[in-house]
Amino acid sequence: MRHLLEIDDLSADEVHEVLVLAGERPDLVLAGHGVALLFEKPSLRTRHSTEMAVVQLGGHPVSVRADEISIGVRETPEDIARALSGYHAAIGARVFEHQKLERMAAVSGVPVVNLLSDEGHPLQALADLLTIQQEFATLSGLTLAWVGDYSNVARSLALACALVGIRVRLACPSGYAPTDADLDRVRAIPGADIEVSSYAVEAVKGADVVSTDTWYAMGQEAEAVVRRRAFEGFTVDGALLEQAGERAILLHCLPAHRGEEVTEDALEGPRSRVFVQATNRMHAARAALWFLIRDMQP
Ligand code: CP
Ligand code: NVA
Repeated sequence: MRHLLEIDDLSADEVHEVLVLAGERPDLVLAGHGVALLFEKPSLRTRHSTEMAVVQLGGHPVSVRADEISIGVRETPEDIARALSGYHAAIGARVFEHQKLERMAAVSGVPVVNLLSDEGHPLQALADLLTIQQEFATLSGLTLAWVGDYSNVARSLALACALVGIRVRLACPSGYAPTDADLDRVRAIPGADIEVSSYAVEAVKGADVVSTDTWYAMGQEAEAVVRRRAFEGFTVDGALLEQAGERAILLHCLPAHRGEEVTEDALEGPRSRVFVQATNRMHAARAALWFLIRDMQP
């Protein structure tokens, strides 16, 4: 049984295969089937893009907020996954603790897809690659600069870039940079090229893609004051983007905290591709589900 808990659950070839599927007219591989979508945290893009992806594959999405099922409280992740496997062709879940996804995947009779956990956001990374590929008609050989928190989104994107041959230049304040284990995981991918600095300009200089994420994730709001102080100097603004390559684009998974990790002028400026990227969430989700479902068919 294949699951998509992190982007490196796919090989480099499989990532490319999913990106090709994202541009193809979908087969109705989910006709007569459901997909369960569980959300422990709020979502706009992920819920809508994944629900519509299921519809485009001919299936029926059933979205449930965590307060209805309380994963691990009302019942265990294992019991939830086993019950849902009897009704659905796949299970997607947005959880606080990544471990809940691993526990569901360990017993699930159908593919489990990470819709964002504390560790990663693989469907976002696929949409980001799709957006970069559409812009540059290639992936290999490009450079992506990540400015700010080495967040769940950053973690998946760094792995995704390594898989397709994009160089990664990170600028993170101390305490919010990748751990040695994070870097080892990226560097275990053949051809990976990832470097970390503490200066935004150093990372962004000449980059083809500049990306960032909020300084505090959903659930980390209590740390906002401390984090705002730690991340001073890590705002992506128009002046910083001028340091990037001539054709450079700006990505942001959204939602954005305007005036913190990114300024209004950068988000609304000519380099911004954030709404193309948001739309690509649907194409990426459809392709990922299609790939996983197709893999199950004899
Ligand atoms: N980028 C993203 O996952 O957005 P949502 O939190 O709105 O789903
Ligand atoms: N890092 C953010 C991403 C939201 C899509 C969070 O986890 O809240």
